[in-house]
Amino acid sequence: MKAIVINQYGSADELVEQEVPLPEINDDQVLMELKATSINPVDWKMREGYLKEMLPYKFPIILGWDAAGIVKKVGNQVTAFQPGDKVFARPKTNPTGTYAEYVAVEEDLVCSLPENSSFDEAAAIPLTGQTAWVALVEIAHIKKGDRVLIHGGSGGVGHLAIQIAKHFGAYVAATASGKNEAFVQSMGADEFINYKEQDFETLLSDYDIVLDTQGGETQEKSFSVLKRGGTLVSIAAPPDEEKAAEKGIKTGYFFLEPDGERLQELAELMKNDELKVTIGKTVPFTEEGLREAHRVSEEHGVVGKIVVQIGK
Ligand SMILES: NC(=O)c1ccc[n+]([C@@H]2O[C@H](COP(=O)([O-])OP(=O)(O)OC[C@H]3O[C@@H](n4cnc5c(N)ncnc54)[C@H](OP(=O)(O)O)[C@@H]3O)[C@@H](O)[C@H]2O)c1
Repeated sequence: MKAIVINQYGSADELVEQEVPLPEINDDQVLMELKATSINPVDWKMREGYLKEMLPYKFPIILGWDAAGIVKKVGNQVTAFQPGDKVFARPKTNPTGTYAEYVAVEEDLVCSLPENSSFDEAAAIPLTGQTAWVALVEIAHIKKGDRVLIHGGSGGVGHLAIQIAKHFGAYVAATASGKNEAFVQSMGADEFINYKEQDFETLLSDYDIVLDTQGGETQEKSFSVLKRGGTLVSIAAPPDEEKAAEKGIKTGYFFLEPDGERLQELAELMKNDELKVTIGKTVPFTEEGLREAHRVSEEHGVVGKIVVQIGK
């Protein structure tokens, strides 16, 4: 099958088209014929080699961990899906990712495509949507009336996190660049902060939850926005536990472990139009398409997500 792989770490030019063997499936896996995948920052972080100690894979590595497509084959123990089903998934993090025509995925990570969703839309949700859900729902236990600050509200995770927080009845403030103010407000944010010109730390206080997508100074300053008993959950770097204890703040940090039941929760919101992904850019499934997509993602060049259309 055709895949776009890297044979060494480096720039976007390392993304090359290569014929690789069709994945073999285990008894608990389905073989998905991919119609779309999407770009996440972890893709280019891995490409650069920043994750080589945490994920020491052998080359060639197929990047990409979002999948939407059609079930082609099922393993002997698979009961929930059959060939022909339209599905989406965040496959396990492994070196045989989704910049490929086919991917093998464990049945319990797969979810049926909502009827009102295209493959492009579905491919843009699994990694970012599940990340936002884990942070807000599973770690911070968001509830009606909570005041929630979401950093990077124009990004892949952030624009879905705003919608999830609004679904739970929270009051939402979000940071992003000034040029993305209208977009962030259209996602449902009650308050917008231009991180390039305004200091969120002096504008906000007594928040219940901060979702930190940035780490560094943004995370540091986020402590003072929270009330005692509030939660600082980061997907960028582990928060300072000592400082958190001093301020009576709960913390969370994780690297997403995907889960099909969680994806089902997101599918329900998609069905009700409560969760709509914004696709800022689509690229074809070619070397040049993927290289361009990586460059744009590294520069935060679009709002929402970048989708790779496969087999079009
Ligand atoms: N731990 C995990 O499991 C996990 C999962 C998913 C993502 N992540 C990480 O989370 C980060 C965000 O992911 P993503 O998919 O949302 O990336 P993305 O789509 O590239 O979005 C990045 C966002 O960051 C915003 N931003 C940049 N500098 C900022 C600042 N100083 N303050 C506030 N916002 C700022 C950008 O806003 P403007 O474009 O408006 O400037 C943009 O909205 C990445 O580092 C990614 O690797 C971790």
